Amino acid sequence: MTEAELYTVYKGVYVPSHLHPPESLKYYEEFSFRPDDIIIVTYPKSGTTWMQEIVPLILSGGDPASVETLPNWDRVPWLEEHRASILNLEQRPSPRVFSTHFHYKMMPPSFFEAKPRVINVMRNPKDVFTSSFHYYGMASYLVNPGPQSEFLHKFLDGKVMFGSWFDHVKSWLNAEDKEHIMYISYEELIMDLKDSVARIAQFLEKRLDAEVMEKIAERCLFKNMKLNNMSNYSGAPREFMDQTKSEFLRKGVVGDWKNQLTVAEAEHFDAVYKDKMKDVKYKFVWD
Ligand code: A3P
Repeated sequence: MTEAELYTVYKGVYVPSHLHPPESLKYYEEFSFRPDDIIIVTYPKSGTTWMQEIVPLILSGGDPASVETLPNWDRVPWLEEHRASILNLEQRPSPRVFSTHFHYKMMPPSFFEAKPRVINVMRNPKDVFTSSFHYYGMASYLVNPGPQSEFLHKFLDGKVMFGSWFDHVKSWLNAEDKEHIMYISYEELIMDLKDSVARIAQFLEKRLDAEVMEKIAERCLFKNMKLNNMSNYSGAPREFMDQTKSEFLRKGVVGDWKNQLTVAEAEHFDAVYKDKMKDVKYKFVWD
């Protein structure tokens, strides 16, 4: 199926119509944030699910009850998804934790008033591309990626769900009131998960013993998270996500793009990256 059949254009980007009907986008537009909410902001395939495991464990002081009983999509719901409107989020006790793939400028008015805390996870776009390529091939609500070279052009042009990686990342890096935003990368999580857990806990002003942080990091290792049926999407219907084609928790590594992109594709990617990111001062770990 085509983009016209599967996607809706919302605030200038494609959103998959199946997950984001007009009434759920309206629900989000009218949503009331609280200052003590915590929002996990990601471009798709950058480590959303990982953070949906880490943050609840930090908040619970390491108690695994919520990550063992609630699927990630209800535990830390996406505010733009249709499920958000049926989860009674208004009744949830503080601090509530949500996810969003929205760009900064797409956020609803209440976000700019309440200024909740944001954890923005970024990932090397070549690995985001690689992860997306496999994911688009197994998720029926997305346009089949087709040949890699074609999908690469779509990805670099932002003709994919939630638009351009470049626009997404730049929008959050240029956000106002940065003191309520924590920027962290997938690569930092991979490099030192325990240290990342400690930094996130500090940002959330949650005091945890070293031993608890160690336990959280251990639980959130790829090999362990893969076994959690509340986080590995085993509960998603096969006609929606066919994990026999590609698992949701696929490889969980840094640099898989080297196995995916040809030399020419990687060079083209780098050239586009250099141009689009030329005004960005932020020092990414992958640069
Ligand atoms: P790969 O496809 O490269 O393996 P999102 O949750 O934003 O959709 O991102 C999915 C990506 O994060 C997938 O990348 C997935 O394997 C990876 N991921 C999820 N949990 C992880 C973990 N605990 N450790 C490392 N990578 C993880």
